[in-house]
Amino acid sequence: MTVQKHDPARKGEADKPRAPAGAGQPRRTAVITGITGQDGSYLAELLLAKGYDVVGIVRRTSHDSYERIGHLLDRVHIVPADLLDQHSLTSVVRDARPDEVYNLAAQSFVPTSWTQPVLTGEFTALGVTRLLEAVRLAHPTARVYQASSSEMFGKAQETPQRETTPFYPRSPYGVAKVYGHWITVNYRESYGLYAVSGILFNHESPRRGLEFVTRKVTDGVARIVKGKARDLHLGNLDARRDWGFAGDYVDAMWRMLQPPRPADYVIGTGEMHSVRELCDLAFSHVGLDWQKYVTVDPRFVRPAEVDTLQADPSKARRELQWTPGTSFADLVRMMVDADLERLS
Ligand code: NAP
Ligand code: GDD
Repeated sequence: MTVQKHDPARKGEADKPRAPAGAGQPRRTAVITGITGQDGSYLAELLLAKGYDVVGIVRRTSHDSYERIGHLLDRVHIVPADLLDQHSLTSVVRDARPDEVYNLAAQSFVPTSWTQPVLTGEFTALGVTRLLEAVRLAHPTARVYQASSSEMFGKAQETPQRETTPFYPRSPYGVAKVYGHWITVNYRESYGLYAVSGILFNHESPRRGLEFVTRKVTDGVARIVKGKARDLHLGNLDARRDWGFAGDYVDAMWRMLQPPRPADYVIGTGEMHSVRELCDLAFSHVGLDWQKYVTVDPRFVRPAEVDTLQADPSKARRELQWTPGTSFADLVRMMVDADLERLS
């Protein structure tokens, strides 16, 4: 593995200029936690295409979870570590001496945060502190991206939501992400780490976990078409979200770590759609009427709901020149087509 050497530095590192990535520059190294997840797989592809050495943190399980990164395994360095284990994180950062660290690992499914609230706090909240401590102690020149969430806005205090909108989380997951956001801001302000919080709205893809509503619907449509299921049970059809394509959003993560000074950004499309509209688009793509197949099932209704989320991504557009490239309709069609293909 190619590693770059840096002089150790402490406070004020965020203000130091660095050479842009690209021709004539030494290869950059990035560490990704959560590389086996949806976003980790797209981010690894993006960074490899930019010429980075990619080090991916994977936790130990009895079965490997390389389904999303199987095609990348000969090009990334997989290292074992866990967000629950300080020593393993510090060792990875010390050995890799990365230019950039992307903390994407988390317990990321909102309903599980009610059934496993303590574990969610350990992974999704305290895990962020462990990773920041690893960077602070082992390699403080690394730039850190924290995967924050629009779930922090929860019971939204204004619409659309921007960087200054107050947080009002509505689940143990949302609360844990608020902690992760503020500890990131605090490490930046206390120690001068280059650490940013990317407040990303929902983003989906054919690699999305099957339990999230977009993938549950597109997989359900494909199963019904293939005769493997007869109906689809969902929860609150009135919930509205700002849904984008994950491939577009990992580019925003990378852009956030390039400016000379660190700042936090909201990333979303600025458009909101309901679960009902999602169903209509997905079923009509295969010529079916969703109302004949979808049943509301109380098992999927949450103890507290986030009714609406809509981003104001104007700061990212202005300062990072980031714009989403995929419409909601194209995203849903892409996901239905991929699920049909997978089941063929
Ligand atoms: P995901 O598909 O659920 O992936 C989560 C990743 O975290 C997996 O690689 C998982 O590894 C890893 N992980 C979980 N616990 C870990 C631990 N204790 N130690 C090490 N790794 C651990 O999530 P995603 O959709 O890619 O989202 C990436 C991040 O963005 C998450 O932090 C999520 O909360 C946040 N976020 C997502 C969205 C969205 O709409 N997708 C929006 C805002 C924020 P295994 O493969 O071993 O399970
Ligand atoms: N999962 C699921 N399953 N959601 C359903 C269902 C169902 O059967 N029926 C209705 N919904 C509604 C949920 O109540 C919620 O309002 C909405 O669909 C979206 O649910 P999810 O797709 O599970 O995503 P999320 O918004 O709770 O959380 C995702 O986005 C966050 C960013 O806002 C996750 O990716 C989080 O990790 C991420 O932070």
